[in-house]
Amino acid sequence: MHQNLFKSKKNNMKVTVVGAGAVGATCADNIARRELCSELVLLDIKEGISEGKALDLFQTSSLLGFDTKISGSTNDYSKTADSDVVVITSGIPRKPGMTREELIGINAGIVKGVTENILKYSPNAIFIIVSNPMDTMTYLALKASGLPKNRVIGMGGLLDSARFKCYLSLATGASTNDLHAVVIGGHGDTTMIPLTRMATVNGLPISNRLSEEALKKVAADTMVGGATLTGLLGTSAWYAPGAAVAALVEAIVRDEKKLMPCCVMLEGEYGQNDICLGVPVIIGKNGWEEIVDYKLNEEEQAAFSKSAEAVRSMNSVLSTMSM
Ligand code: LAC
Repeated sequence: MHQNLFKSKKNNMKVTVVGAGAVGATCADNIARRELCSELVLLDIKEGISEGKALDLFQTSSLLGFDTKISGSTNDYSKTADSDVVVITSGIPRKPGMTREELIGINAGIVKGVTENILKYSPNAIFIIVSNPMDTMTYLALKASGLPKNRVIGMGGLLDSARFKCYLSLATGASTNDLHAVVIGGHGDTTMIPLTRMATVNGLPISNRLSEEALKKVAADTMVGGATLTGLLGTSAWYAPGAAVAALVEAIVRDEKKLMPCCVMLEGEYGQNDICLGVPVIIGKNGWEEIVDYKLNEEEQAAFSKSAEAVRSMNSVLSTMSM
């Protein structure tokens, strides 16, 4: 496609969001408001829910001034045919006190089934995985689909980095937009690694503004960012996850070549193999196009290896499941 077309607001893209729960519907809302595609399909297994949410969202179009057609489908995957980007949010969210990892028993079978059904109708799609445990679900979607590695992207790192910026902003008073801050590793309360050493505000190290102790608290708050919200809301969050997905979709459909921390297959990078884990990548029209080497120090590399160990043991559960 001609480069200019990516820059214009309108395009001929089709995006499907599977799972019309709070996260899926918020993804759809953000994608439509920003006119990231001309056609948007919401699919859910629960009768009527995706049709209802799609119709409600489409009824906002004249009010919000967007021109994306939105439709819903109860489990009819033919409606998703020829999607350019597919977002998988299916499965159950966590309840207060639960870890993301506890969801594997239910969500693995769902994510595998959804991936296979989508692939039948959209063999060229780029997949964005949101369902938890996100790192293992990304690995599962990649293996179950047999797709080239660049077309399967787990969303967690972008969300965790947005939360990191939120807590840095609260601690410093700086605008979140003036911050550069990245979370790598797993999307789990104990596996994510906020890279405090590399966080900057307008190009200056954040350590100029925060004591070591304050920075440690920001990192700790970031790691339980999702759990804090689950405690407050009684279920997992949706605004920031939905916005993170939309940013990712935008980087793909507009070929932005943006650096985003995402969960991707590692083949030697960051010292890991055969695992999907969060690292900084460049996102564009081909999915994730390049892994950026952040040159971790010894301590950060050790934390990354530990995170990989935990995610790998979660991945090994997949082979014991009948799906
Ligand atoms: C969260 C879920 C989406 O972190 O994993 O809010």
